[in-house]
Parts: sequence; structure tokens; C-alpha cells
Amino acid sequence: MPGPSNTPDLRGAVRGLDRRRFLTVSAAATALAFTTGLPRTGAFAAPAGSPSAITSDPFTLAVASGDPLPDSVLLWTRLAPLPLEPTGGMPPSRFDVDWEVSRDATFTRVVRRGTASAHTEFNHSVHAEVRGLDAATEYFYRFRVGQWISPVGRTRTAPAVGAAVSSLTFALASCQRYDQGYYTAYKHLAGEDVDAVFHLGDYLYEYAVNASAGARAYTQPLPAHLNHETVTLDDYRARYGLYKSDPDQIAAHLAHPFIVTWDDHETENNYAADTPENSVPPEEFLVRRAAAYRAYWENQPLRMPQQPSGPDLRLYRRLQWGRLAQFDILDTRQYRTNQANGDGWKVPSAESEAELMTLPGNEQEQWLIDGWRRSSALWNVVPQQVTFSRRDNPSGDGTRSMDSWDGYPASRRRILEGWKASEQSNLMVLTGDVHVHYGLNIHDDFDDPSSRIMGTEIVTSSITSGGNGAERPANWAAYLERNPHMKFYNGLRGYTTVSLDATGAEITYKNVPYVSTPGAPLTIGGRFFTESGKPGLVPA
Ligand SMILES: [Fe+2]
Repeated sequence: MPGPSNTPDLRGAVRGLDRRRFLTVSAAATALAFTTGLPRTGAFAAPAGSPSAITSDPFTLAVASGDPLPDSVLLWTRLAPLPLEPTGGMPPSRFDVDWEVSRDATFTRVVRRGTASAHTEFNHSVHAEVRGLDAATEYFYRFRVGQWISPVGRTRTAPAVGAAVSSLTFALASCQRYDQGYYTAYKHLAGEDVDAVFHLGDYLYEYAVNASAGARAYTQPLPAHLNHETVTLDDYRARYGLYKSDPDQIAAHLAHPFIVTWDDHETENNYAADTPENSVPPEEFLVRRAAAYRAYWENQPLRMPQQPSGPDLRLYRRLQWGRLAQFDILDTRQYRTNQANGDGWKVPSAESEAELMTLPGNEQEQWLIDGWRRSSALWNVVPQQVTFSRRDNPSGDGTRSMDSWDGYPASRRRILEGWKASEQSNLMVLTGDVHVHYGLNIHDDFDDPSSRIMGTEIVTSSITSGGNGAERPANWAAYLERNPHMKFYNGLRGYTTVSLDATGAEITYKNVPYVSTPGAPLTIGGRFFTESGKPGLVPA
């Protein structure tokens, strides 16, 4: 799969609009330019369309908020009267959308108002960066266009920089393949009292969704255009319309701010930087990646620095929760070296162990380590995608996952050395991807179970991916036995909550016993504690 790449030409074409180089990869570049067109500005800006052109409710996808700062939160919506259509059913003009933020849910104490543009080029999404808010405060927000008023969302700002914060509770979610079940876990998550939700990737899957929505067994057929793998911008846009119109998904966004990062399926299974899963030339894959990244941004509560440029999107970023927690949110897809040994579960080799192997890319590795060095937070939390700790195959065949950090041990080593050098106290890594709950102790040397525990890794199960699952999958006992640093393993669907304070962290793994039909109750899969200054998971 890896091979010579003319990626720089393509990137240059997009960024600099260098006409000559643009033409060197003309077909791909034309498709890319189409995919990444920007709204005209200044004197040539499109006039705003009349809201009377919107003849049915455009707020079918409701609203969302994200990336809380002490004085600011990002408010999101996307106008889509027909959410399953690539255009959302919107006329091709710009619309002005009003927003307001209030201290109460009935909007009698409005503190901020403004107007944002919903551009055709961004699929009529709205990203309103509201400033001038109070720290550590609950707010309510809504949008209006013409006669249409959106549902009301609730959000929360972060505590002031340097503030002493007594506690923080957040939730983890990942892996929500639509056609493998109902989002009942989100319905329960909507009722949780959490400050924020971290989504750790696989918010969307590229795979076809058939007329009956797979395991959901719909009796009203879905449109045929959803029944193929997403490749074009229209494909990704329509797929987000489907995923985001789920009522339980909407309820979770209405209740809490989300802090999102992606994994592979928002673009394509197991891609690495510009190398796709199958043998597609990099310049062609980058067009697809640009479409996927564009649609991702259009559909997530992300700030302006995350607006993509062609096939590039700066997703890794840092958020603070006073002096209690620093969050270093990673992107382990966009910059990684290609998986060693042909990917999959393989015996480690000189190729996977090579120093040049990197999962976050060299720049992001350094950014993470530098951030720890300067951190004044009690807890240093790393929301990211793939399993950080060693996992030996329970079959005993000596293989490990080449797609996770086990396939990039030199990169993991550099990061752990950076952690040690920072002399910080509480490392917690948050992970999705594997569709099971794990609780793992991160050892300095995974070959030596008596080596120092550097921190803990909390892996959250899927919302739906993999179907109903089982509390103890067939390999349950073998997995725990072969990996003594694994303290918990549970194969049901669900989410996880983590509460941090000065004494420690309490981790609660939550389950739904089934996803094939709606209405599952919420159960507790396991509860663990890790003491501040003394890493290691103990049952709580
Ligand atoms: Fe997944």
C-alpha cells in the first residue's frame, strides 16, 4: 500500500492556488477544489436569502455546543429541513441565523445575542463563537431563522484560568455505527449530571446503511443513496444528516457540551495520513479525506481554528478546567506513519519497533510533551482514539494490534519519557475504538508487571458498534490473564463517566444490556478508583 506520493503537489495546489501545480493532478485537484470551495466575502459576498424560502422546520438536527472556555462556548446548528438529503433540502443561498444565550431555559435572562451566516458552501452549518460569558456557568441557547426557532440547548463554560476547582465530571462516548443498533446509551447520557462529554471517535461510519437501517429494522425505508460507502462530499453530508437526526443523539447534544475528536471511520477504516485502506493513489484518497474532514467540521461543534483547509484539519488542541485538569486532545490518524507489517494483529517486528514510527506525528508528540512540561493542572488527561497500553492477544500467538499504540512502541516510549521528564503527577489516557470497556494500568515497562505505574487508561465501549455484545465475551478470562495490567474488561455497549477531584478519580463504566431494540435500561458494569499521586485502578 505505501508508495511514492505526490501529496505535496496536491496540498500546494489547494493552499496556494498555484495554477501550474494545480493542473499537475488535474482530476483530483478539480474534485478537491469543488469539495473545498469557500463562501465569497466582501463586495462579492452572496446576499442573504429570504427566510420565507425555508418552508419547513430547518432545525431537524437541533443544536449542539462544544469546546468550552472560561468566557466562551461554541454554538452549532445546521439548517436542514430534509436532513437525509446532501443539501439538507436548503435553497442554495446564504441565510442569516440569530442566536441567543440566556441564564435560564425560558430566555428571560438573555446575556448575549448575535447573528451568524449559514453558507451553502458549508452546507448551511452555523458555528457561533460566543464570547463574554462568565466562567463555570450554566447557559441555555437557541437559534432562529425567519419564523423557525430551534430547540433549546444547555451548555456550560469552563472555570477561570488558574481557578481552584473542587471537582469535575465528564463522560466518554465512542463508536456509534447507526445500523448496528439504537443510541439508547445516549438517552441515558442525556440525563447524567456531567460538565462535558468527550467523543473519542467513530461518530460516523463510512459503511452503507441499507433501507431498513440494518439492526434497527426500520419499517419505513431509508433512501437508496445511503446504501453505499461514503466517498464524496455529498455522501458524507447525507450520512451526517442520518446520524445526527437520531433523537437520542440529539438529546445528548442538547444536554451537554461535546468535545470531539475523530478516529478512522469518519473518513475510512484504518487509514493512516494519506494512505487509504485499499490501493487507491494518495492524491485520490486526499480528495476523499478533504470531503470527510469538511463534512466533519460542518457537523461538529468545533471552533474556527478547526475549520479545514483542503485535506488538512487541525483537530488536536488543549483545554483547561482551572487548575484541576488539562485536556490534551489528540488526533492519531492524520499524521501517523503507515501501520507496520501490513496492519492487523501481527507479531512485533523490526518494522513496527522502528524509531521513525509515530502515531501522533512528530510535531504533535512534541506538542503533547511540551504541554505537560508547562502544565499546572493536578490531572493531565489525554482524550484520544486507539488503545495506548499493551494488549497481548489472548490466544497466545504473540500478536498485537498494529493499528493501535502497540504498533508504534517507539512513539509510546517517547511520550512516556516525556511524561516522566515533566514530573507531573496524574496521567489519564481516554480511549475509544475497540467497542469494549477496559480499565488499564499504564506501566513504565509492560514486560515487567512490577515496573512503575505511570497512569491509567480508561477505554470506553461503543454506543452501538458491534451490536448487543456480551458482558464477558468468549476471550474474557484469557484476556485478563494474559494482560495482568488490565483490571477491567466488559463487552457490552455503553459509556463511561469520570469524576476528578483532589483525592482521586472515580470511573464508572455504564452499560445498556442491548441495542437491537430501543428502551434498554442503564446498568453499572464496574466502578473503579485511582488515587491522586498513586496511579493504579482499584475497585471502588
Ligand atoms: Fe469503531
